Amino acid sequence: MATLIADELASDPRVLQARELLTAALRDHQSKLTGIRGPDPARAAEYAKIIADFSQARAGGLYFPYLGSGLGNGALVELADGSVKYDFISGIGVHYLGHSHPLLLNSGISAALSDTVMQGNLQQNRNSTPIVALLLQMVKTAGARLEHCFLTTSGAMANENALKLMFQRKPGAARMLAFEHGFCGRTLALSQITDKPQYRAGLPSILPVDYIPFFDASDPKGSTEKAVLALRTYLHRYPGQHAGMCIELILGEGGYWLGDHDFFRLILTELKAHQIAVWFDEIQTFGRTSRPFAFEHYDLAQWADVVTVGKLTQLCATLLTPEFKPQPGLLSQTFTASASAIAAAEVILKMMIQGDLFGPGGRNMQVHAMITQRLEAIAARHPYLLRGPYGLGGMIAFTPLDGSEAKVKILLKALFDAGVIAFYAGSNPARIRMLPPVPVVTQRDIDIVCDIVESTLVACADI
Ligand SMILES: Cc1ncc(COP(=O)(O)O)c(C=O)c1O
Repeated sequence: MATLIADELASDPRVLQARELLTAALRDHQSKLTGIRGPDPARAAEYAKIIADFSQARAGGLYFPYLGSGLGNGALVELADGSVKYDFISGIGVHYLGHSHPLLLNSGISAALSDTVMQGNLQQNRNSTPIVALLLQMVKTAGARLEHCFLTTSGAMANENALKLMFQRKPGAARMLAFEHGFCGRTLALSQITDKPQYRAGLPSILPVDYIPFFDASDPKGSTEKAVLALRTYLHRYPGQHAGMCIELILGEGGYWLGDHDFFRLILTELKAHQIAVWFDEIQTFGRTSRPFAFEHYDLAQWADVVTVGKLTQLCATLLTPEFKPQPGLLSQTFTASASAIAAAEVILKMMIQGDLFGPGGRNMQVHAMITQRLEAIAARHPYLLRGPYGLGGMIAFTPLDGSEAKVKILLKALFDAGVIAFYAGSNPARIRMLPPVPVVTQRDIDIVCDIVESTLVACADI
């Protein structure tokens, strides 16, 4: 078999040397980013103008005045105003390996040499196939019956695909079930499943969704009974009309409320008895609990009909059992993902399979303990300033002050100005959440960030 010319290019000594040179240059320059730095006053006016013009052009302001320079070092990121900040939200869970990771530079070089910027469903390069194989290997190891995997660009698109699969499987069923305070994405259909009225203000109600209350760890028995009763009521009221239930095993945007095996088992038993598809939306949870999938963490693999993953994978995917296989024409898009996202996904999935992220003593749970120990100490010193912490693995949250949305927003801005990027989740109470870059974050990073959290809370105590 003759060597492919593309493989000759990949192993060309000039390419190998260029990789080494680029990696060395990256390391030299990123090593200058060693800690928090304030903005450069000489850049302030121009930066403010760029942000204002951009906000105007995109018909809405940015949440933070954040424009990255394109360089970072682990959990640290440089912004275009010259500041350096700790990124403890990772683009809401995307920059799992932190900023400017050399492995991703390397995968990016491969992508840049691979002919096209975007891969598509009609024409994609061979490197899409290992992504599908790796994800299917992971679900098989998890013990789920998912045998197919369809790649796409965003969590919303993976979820739209999941939705269509469930409706196609059960013709005539036009309703969906979902948990209260869940988040599912921002398309017209998904905005109906997302339980946040503000995110669908002014939109037509195109998809009837019945909401079930989520598990409440402070009242396990009561909340489970309430949920099962609500579910039975809807099943009785709309017999045969539900195609599926969207299940976020940990409420992400809803505030990092944890689920529970027995709670889910009772809900899932009802669903199966009524031929309602079980869809685990793992766009946020994938890769962050004690296992690759949160459904493994909660020991629910046997129930999964459809699972969606995204964010830290760089591209997104819908995984399905053979019963949910689409009829031709149902799923396709111009884009699968960018060549660089596909190359990065392979690196990250292999790290998930081969690395030390999972298990009770895995990196996810270790980093959780490192951060929550510090937050618990703050809560002990200032019980009126911080409640919690909450969450699991790489998803960590706390309720600051009185938990009002207005105060959380002021605090997030104060943290940002002090050099720490976090974000909010939930309402009543609103929480501050963190999605740190688990594989690269250090104890030193955590100590600095938690010191800033404490001093910012103290400074904002009377707002
Ligand atoms: C649980 C869940 N589902 C779906 C989505 C939507 O993903 P995307 O923003 O990539 O469309 C998100 C994003 O935050 C999510 O957390």
